[in-house]
Amino acid sequence: MAFDQLFDAAIGRFVLCHQPDPVALLRKISRLVRPGGIVVFQESDNEQRRSYPPIRTYDMMSEWIDETLRRTGVDVRIGIKLCSTFLAAGLAEPTMRLQAVIGGAKAPDEVHFEADLAVTLGGNLASDSRTRAMSASRFSMAPPTL
Ligand SMILES: C[S@@+](CC[C@H](N)C(=O)[O-])C[C@H]1O[C@@H](n2cnc3c(N)ncnc32)[C@H](O)[C@@H]1O
Repeated sequence: MAFDQLFDAAIGRFVLCHQPDPVALLRKISRLVRPGGIVVFQESDNEQRRSYPPIRTYDMMSEWIDETLRRTGVDVRIGIKLCSTFLAAGLAEPTMRLQAVIGGAKAPDEVHFEADLAVTLGGNLASDSRTRAMSASRFSMAPPTL
């Protein structure tokens, strides 16, 4: 896509995780930003998602989400790689910030979102014999079906 002028900023959220080559996309996007402009990306590192005290259902659901995403080509750890991805794309070292829902009154909204995602994705996993085997061996129960 061609533009007749450079942008002040490029902002993306949960986009780089879908890229087979995130460095290439970032390099391409940053060329569209004027010198001194801003490049901001928010991506997740799902490896950090966990429950404490451990809740088996929550942790099992998390693993199903991640396994499904991985199988569709998503890098579920891209968040923690943002600094190296920026540097590899020729950008300046970025400021890295971490945000996490860790509990409290608003946490149920986040958990409900992930539960909905797990049920949706779980339908796909349920039809996959390899996932059934993984689930059975790791969690002693089958993934949910729609
Ligand atoms: C998980 S969604 C995130 C949507 C939105 N940014 C948000 O935060 O709600 C992933 C988005 O990445 C977009 N996407 C993936 N590859 C892209 C590409 N090469 N160029 C532009 N958008 C892309 C998809 O169209 C989709 O809208």
